[in-house]
Amino acid sequence: MSGERAVDEAALHESVTRRSAAARELLRAIAADFSPAVFASSLGAEDMVLTDLIVRESLPIGIFSLDTGRLPAETHALMATVRHHYGLTLRLYYPRHDLLEAWTSEHGINAFYESVELRKACCQLRKVEPLQRALAGQRAWITGMRAQQASTRDGLPLRSVDTANGGLEKFNPLAEWSEREVWAYLRQHGVPYNALHDRFYPSIGCAPCTRAVAAGEDVRAGRWWWENPESKECGLHPGRP
Ligand code: ADX
Ligand code: SF4
Repeated sequence: MSGERAVDEAALHESVTRRSAAARELLRAIAADFSPAVFASSLGAEDMVLTDLIVRESLPIGIFSLDTGRLPAETHALMATVRHHYGLTLRLYYPRHDLLEAWTSEHGINAFYESVELRKACCQLRKVEPLQRALAGQRAWITGMRAQQASTRDGLPLRSVDTANGGLEKFNPLAEWSEREVWAYLRQHGVPYNALHDRFYPSIGCAPCTRAVAAGEDVRAGRWWWENPESKECGLHPGRP
């Protein structure tokens, strides 16, 4: 390793250690002061950092995932890996079959490609409504969002009040982390991650709405790639997140 590279790696190691300590502290405070609290995991790289921190600290924070019914096989494979690796029971929430059956009968199975309106309606049925059930009765929820992920996430706070979900607290412990720091944490701690990340999928959602990105493209360029960047939120994090 060149001298310059060694200095760079040492600085990265130091910043990850500092950020991990701060995230751990925040998670402890959430568990102590805002119980019951839950963490929403999409099994993406950021969510694996938080899963690792929560499990290592044995914090009483439930972890759930919204299984939209259209997730990639690799995400399901990681759910199974996580279960064995951490001995963790990931709670899964599914869309309401009655609503989904009516909607797909009317609009078809892949209507999300036809308009932003239909795409948002699909996200509402498959993600937002199940999220509301997952958050019922909770005092706080935690996400893996980072400010640098998208223009819609500029200035993302560590903590806010989620008015869209009844006024519970919403925490984004990785708000200030860079993508490089996320990956350094995963490497340093041997954390399992989604196999799609190694195939140029930096951000992973439902299979039909996610593609690989090309070199130099934005990390969320592969999400709903046929839409404008301003419309690229699915309703889980409306307004100022
Ligand atoms: S999305 O809203 O556009 O899908 P993204 O994939 O960047 O968001 O994920 C941001 C955060 O939203 C994740 O770190 C996670 O906390 C939450 N999230 C997104 N998708 C899911 C899911 N399917 N299940 C649980 N949480 C999710
Ligand atoms: Fe539907 Fe695509 Fe939204 Fe998944 S990401 S809920 S398939 S529109």
